[in-house]
Amino acid sequence: MDLQDGKIIVTGAASGLGRCFALNFARSGAKVLGFDIDEEGLSELAGEDGNIEVFAGNVTSEDDVKSCVAACVDAFGAVNGLVNNAGIFRDALLVKKDRKSGELKTMSLQDWQSVIDVNLTGTFLCTREVAAQMIDAEDEGVIVNISSVSRHGNQGQTNYSATKAGVVADTKLWGEELARYKIRVGAVAPGFTQTPILDAMRDDVLEKLVGQVPLRRTGRPEEIYQAVEFIFRCDYFTGRCIDVDGGLTL
Ligand SMILES: NC(=O)c1ccc[n+]([C@@H]2O[C@H](COP(=O)([O-])OP(=O)(O)OC[C@H]3O[C@@H](n4cnc5c(N)ncnc54)[C@H](O)[C@@H]3O)[C@@H](O)[C@H]2O)c1
Repeated sequence: MDLQDGKIIVTGAASGLGRCFALNFARSGAKVLGFDIDEEGLSELAGEDGNIEVFAGNVTSEDDVKSCVAACVDAFGAVNGLVNNAGIFRDALLVKKDRKSGELKTMSLQDWQSVIDVNLTGTFLCTREVAAQMIDAEDEGVIVNISSVSRHGNQGQTNYSATKAGVVADTKLWGEELARYKIRVGAVAPGFTQTPILDAMRDDVLEKLVGQVPLRRTGRPEEIYQAVEFIFRCDYFTGRCIDVDGGLTL
């Protein structure tokens, strides 16, 4: 796809990676609709580039997702791009017994469900609505799902790992199902990347994590964008996940 022709919805666009994707798409000439629950972050984003419009809503709400797609069509015409980036984590061990007190802690159903709702159901709803709208288009459509290194299974992330593996499985099957409509689907699985998620981490914890990365540093949002942009631009790419993780999962 030529990004100058892009009319792209980016979820989770008010912060971190989504903000970076929205700004870079807009600078390449694409029209971008940023979709997020964070209204303050969205209004900051909207002021950054004339190619960006914003929609405040929740990716877990079927009504909000439908309204967002309709808003994008109203603003720019038919949507031909989507990045499913909105994501949360609520880390906890599945079960944990305190050695001294013997107290048992478990991952709560609420923490399981909220992560499934945003990362997996949100991706399902946005992809379904956008794909239904792309199906009659003459030109191709592109959908990118943001996964994570955690897709391989990461301790303390029963909920998050399930969603990030789930979106890669769906990337493959949507790539197959939707190819007949000229809709390509790809995924990008970032490693530790400099966004507010990492800023919130203790320095010693972060140092330990970085020590496990062969390239010995965290990633920059622009480096994750490069993989997203590759999927948009390469018309022969579909159904695959690109790991951009400094070698962490080698
Ligand atoms: N930063 C990393 O190291 C890293 C690594 C691997 C994968 N990821 C993935 O990249 C994506 C972006 O992460 P980030 O680091 O930029 O995080 P972030 O917290 O900076 O941004 C996430 C955005 O999603 C929005 N959001 C959350 N719930 C929402 C909902 N229900 N509806 C609409 N918007 C919602 C938030 O408001 C926020 O603006 C996530 O899917 C995350 O899992 C991040």
